[in-house]
Amino acid sequence: MSDTFTLDGREIPFEPGQTIIQAAQAAGAYIPHLCYHPEFAPHGSCKLCTVKVDGRQIASCTMRAAAGMTVESDTEELNAERRSLTQMLFVEGNHFCPSCEKSGDCQLQATAYHLGMMTPHYDHFFPNRPVDASHPDFLLDFNRCILCSLCVRASRDVDGKNVFALGGRGIKTHLLVDAESHQLADTDFASGDKAAEVCPVGVILPKRKGFAVPYGQRTFDTKPIADYVDVHLDSARQTPPAGGDAGDGRVCPPYSRNCATQDREGN
Ligand code: FES
Repeated sequence: MSDTFTLDGREIPFEPGQTIIQAAQAAGAYIPHLCYHPEFAPHGSCKLCTVKVDGRQIASCTMRAAAGMTVESDTEELNAERRSLTQMLFVEGNHFCPSCEKSGDCQLQATAYHLGMMTPHYDHFFPNRPVDASHPDFLLDFNRCILCSLCVRASRDVDGKNVFALGGRGIKTHLLVDAESHQLADTDFASGDKAAEVCPVGVILPKRKGFAVPYGQRTFDTKPIADYVDVHLDSARQTPPAGGDAGDGRVCPPYSRNCATQDREGN
């Protein structure tokens, strides 16, 4: 019999090594998240998945489950903080949902609906981010990037190509294409790449397929994001939370510079 912890009062079983979000999702419980993906090592950057563990806030995608933990997630306080984080993401980029090809399939938009976000609240930055239409089959619209690093991880860890990277620091952090020209056409990015399918928003878009599925019939038009928890997380496909151990139950994302027990290569 597996150990359990409680999530919002519900008993959640877990396997040794599983993170809180992995165990929750395997049990059909939704914890909002954007940079977490079951097939990749956690990145721990968006903080949408923050929960309270025994009263202390921590990202549930990088915290291993432990027997007897009391975890709170669906509370007014945590959801208000998630709403603020989501609002900041909306104003930091240029997200114009009514004209976005990803509308209805976008995890940022669906998460905002889930959290009851009614307005952006903050002033828009309106950054100037030119799109990259150089590739014959894909368009890159950097305006919608939320820096989740899923394309970076997919290209690096699955495709073995390192087409993408995050560059800059703080508010200047941005998605980079790893070519001297910074153009996607000058990389070996291809339609069969895992990186071509993981973008949770509308940055990496295939050409000649726009609006093939009408608005109103898309993924999150028919069911809210919280109802996809079982589809998102087929636990057999969950990637063990690779990376170092911070020594307090947290997983250090691979390539993290801040983990005492791993080197820069994630060992
Ligand atoms: Fe955990 Fe982004 S999903 S920090």
